[in-house]
Amino acid sequence: MAEELNVAEGTKAEQYEAVLPQIKALIEMETDVVANLANIAAVLKTQFHWWWVGFYLVKNEELVLGPFQGPLACTRIQKGKGVCGSSWEQAQTFLVPDVEQFPGHIACSALSKSEIVVPVFKDNKVMAVLDVDSELLHHFDETDQKYLEQLVSYIKL
Ligand code: SME
Repeated sequence: MAEELNVAEGTKAEQYEAVLPQIKALIEMETDVVANLANIAAVLKTQFHWWWVGFYLVKNEELVLGPFQGPLACTRIQKGKGVCGSSWEQAQTFLVPDVEQFPGHIACSALSKSEIVVPVFKDNKVMAVLDVDSELLHHFDETDQKYLEQLVSYIKL
């Protein structure tokens, strides 16, 4: 595939439907994990204009910042801490409509208002999380969850 994204219009679901096959094709052509995670963050940022989108990778029993698009972020997160550490510990997606209501939320950016974190599995173990932050409250819903879970299933860590 050419290194060019066909940015989609339409409903959120239509945008995901258009972008996910492009991401799948893009990362199938490359075996390097960092390169693929970097391109996924770039594609999602370009398509959806989210405030922050990126990955944390499990390294030596903590989450370490990986490829992302957006402002400077916290570099390390402990298991069970914040939304990311909770998603890792519980091996499930967290949809947080208002980060101030989430006990222990880690505010990397004071502007972040809502968040979704999706675990990335390898051999049934969480090895990374995809984190998306919005400066708007209630930005993410089950549609984001469905498609982002589908997206991370393409990733080979
Ligand atoms: N808010 C996250 C921390 C990561 S930043 O948002 C990029 C959390 O509570 O885990």
